[in-house]
Amino acid sequence: MPAYRAPRGTRDLLPAETPAWTRLERLGADLASRYGYRRIETPLFEQSEVFERGIGAVTDVVEKELFRIAPRTDEAESWALRPEPTAGIVRAYVQHGMQTWPQPVKLSQLGPMFRYDPPQAGRYRQFWQFDVEAIGDPGPAVDAEIIELGTRYYRDAGLEGVEVLLNSIGDPTCRPAYVAELTAYFDAHREALPELERTRLERNPLRLLDSKDPAMAALNAMAPRITDRLCEPCAEHFAAVRAHLQALAIPYRLEPGLVRGLDYYTRTAFEFYVAGREGQQQALGGGGRYDGLVELLGGRPTPAIGFGIGLDRLVLALAETGVTEPAESAPIAVVVGADPDATSHRLRIATDLRAAGLGARAELGRRKLGKQLEAAARDGAHFAVIVGDELADGDVGLRDLPAGTQKVIPIADLAREVGRAHAAHRHGPPGGGAGSA
Ligand code: HAM
Repeated sequence: MPAYRAPRGTRDLLPAETPAWTRLERLGADLASRYGYRRIETPLFEQSEVFERGIGAVTDVVEKELFRIAPRTDEAESWALRPEPTAGIVRAYVQHGMQTWPQPVKLSQLGPMFRYDPPQAGRYRQFWQFDVEAIGDPGPAVDAEIIELGTRYYRDAGLEGVEVLLNSIGDPTCRPAYVAELTAYFDAHREALPELERTRLERNPLRLLDSKDPAMAALNAMAPRITDRLCEPCAEHFAAVRAHLQALAIPYRLEPGLVRGLDYYTRTAFEFYVAGREGQQQALGGGGRYDGLVELLGGRPTPAIGFGIGLDRLVLALAETGVTEPAESAPIAVVVGADPDATSHRLRIATDLRAAGLGARAELGRRKLGKQLEAAARDGAHFAVIVGDELADGDVGLRDLPAGTQKVIPIADLAREVGRAHAAHRHGPPGGGAGSA
């Protein structure tokens, strides 16, 4: 047993796993930029109040899952690691006067989040999110655009058939009456409520609707539905979001019990699931409209919408469906030599190849030339550059490992020759013939 391990609920992403992450990060950056979302980076921690006010004090994320940083005696403020990016991005929007920029301000972030969750499959204490936020647009068209962007992200990542669950949870005009009605409904069935739900009923009755407790299924099925009680503007907005989704040919399923776990949501709420797994599995991603959050964090009233896609769950889902990642890139050339002490020559040649833009590794150990060549082939290198006695004349040996051919070339021509031969090998000879890589 090693003395130290990664903290519970966290993982090391080892080199065999990181190509999947690199691919999903690049895909996120590429899609965000194609849709006009610009990158923003906010700190990994904020004043706790940003989350308490923003996400809501009576939410699991704040009550149970916030990673608070133990206060130092010389700091008056209290800090917490970010459990999600939206509150921090909105704090930055207000702080930097982004309401004076052309609206909407479309921002994107991809990075680690922290929640003190009980660790289990697909639920970690440090996890990654790809997040987009369109701040300053009341919708409904942008709501559909954002949902379409989410579905495209999954599809481009290689996960087919992700299902969109959609709901509208109203606004401060229509929701209070609905919450009162819902509270009365559950109160009338108090005896049937599991203990946890009974305490939740006092504090945040909407949360009962997305309870995972099987004892709640029948009660929730009969519960009053918010979508039947929306005020006129919310109902119109919701109908228009659906019409836009239809125009984009994005299938979705209405889910009146979808209320999301964060308090800032208004109107449009949605989640992404692996098709057919909604009941048993956690969401792959989710988001919605949060028209009150900018004001709550000190800005002018500003409508906004966004989503967060969990990369950890996406990587798991991709692995389950058998999507394989492209092989890690092999060095194009490995610089080898029989003289164990000639490391400075080998290092120099590899450095020059890298400076010319080629992937190269120098053999810096003291093993025999035969072993060095074996290792180069095992690495999947295209060439071995063999440094030997010819170096005195300014030459090296160049072995094409897959072809098994070898020639002597001037060191001055090495980078050009390796680059040209490698490109021809990958793309095939000019004028026809497929390459083999
Ligand atoms: P969320 O639903 O709390 O929303 O999280 C979004 C996604 O992050 C989840 O669907 C899930 O894939 C992933 N996730 C959450 N917690 C964990 C965990 N403990 N382990 C692994 N993955 C997890 C938000 O965070 C909102 N900020 C989304 C949003 C953006 N709404 C508007 N704009």
